[in-house]
Amino acid sequence: MNYRFSIPTTVECGTGISGRAGEFLRARGASRVFVVTDAGIRNAGLLEPVLHSLEEHGLKYDIFDETEPNPSAESVMTGLERLKQKPHDHILALGGGSSIDTAKGIGIMATNKGHILDYEGVNRIPHPGLPVVAIPTTAGTGSEVTASTIITNSQTHFKAAVISPYIFPQLALLDPQLTEKLPQELTAATGMDALTHAIESYTSKTATSFSRALAIEAIRMIGQNLKKAYFVGNDPASREQMLVASAMAGMAFAQSRLGNVHAISHTLGGVFNIPHGIANAALLPYVMKYNLPACPEKMKDIAEALGCRVDGLPLDEAAELAVQAVVELNRALNIPSNIRELGVDLKALPKLVEDSMRSGNVLVNPRWTRSSDIERIIRNAYEGNLSV
Ligand SMILES: [Fe+2]
Repeated sequence: MNYRFSIPTTVECGTGISGRAGEFLRARGASRVFVVTDAGIRNAGLLEPVLHSLEEHGLKYDIFDETEPNPSAESVMTGLERLKQKPHDHILALGGGSSIDTAKGIGIMATNKGHILDYEGVNRIPHPGLPVVAIPTTAGTGSEVTASTIITNSQTHFKAAVISPYIFPQLALLDPQLTEKLPQELTAATGMDALTHAIESYTSKTATSFSRALAIEAIRMIGQNLKKAYFVGNDPASREQMLVASAMAGMAFAQSRLGNVHAISHTLGGVFNIPHGIANAALLPYVMKYNLPACPEKMKDIAEALGCRVDGLPLDEAAELAVQAVVELNRALNIPSNIRELGVDLKALPKLVEDSMRSGNVLVNPRWTRSSDIERIIRNAYEGNLSV
């Protein structure tokens, strides 16, 4: 198999490092920076030290704080209009995956013609975008180190993936301090998003030794730290481990892509506006169960990484423990065990199946998947049926 492994994003880690954003941008030749964030981040006081740092280093900036959850194409194009009002040379994203994905979309559209949705798919962007520096405030999406941005078409409610090496941020600043005050529900949702990235990447058909090494270590780190970050909250050690694990999982899936969980969860997010991490968490055991016969050895590795005792067990039993470990983690984090409780209505089933099948992630899912399989997974996840 021929493959490439490339992580063009430089990562700087450290407590308080977001307060050095101006220094890093200055060193990269920035002079006017377009800051993309949302009102919640601003109100939480996380933006202030970053802006102070830009001022300290003599950088001019303008702020776009209208990022929305599950960002739409319209909000990217609105941000682009704002960006074009002045000659910005860098974009700084501060926030969760929605802010970073919006910033990446704006960055690409600053140098490419047309509309962001024209570039849905893989490698369709002709020119590099404006350089993006990303500062995540959640430990989950890994968007600060990935080559994709997920943008919702608000007419069709389809979440389109735009994927290109030109989308990688140039620099990611991982500052665990920013995540210490995350509400419990967000810690759970984003942490389970990161775990889903790691598990889907580890089992992806296009995984390589490089990506698997990152993914399995991320699974181990999340297994050891997510509950502590959730129950303790301001625990610097577990917050730091979660933030690093999230970025590692992002690096892994930027190479290997994901699988059926993300194919379906993007669809549920687009149609029912369910938070991405919660949709993933609720679906994950059902997709793992579906995938078990295709990759029992890898599922056994996952069970072990999540702290299960697998020594001496038959392979099938050891592999099944991975599913149970995820079910128990969801229960501990107070995440619904089925998608009916998330507001999914099976009247939309034909569209859910059709949109899920359109995702490129189905192609790299470890077990071969047809429309009828996606339908079965959605029905099982709706009914809470893990027996098949
Ligand atoms: Fe995700």
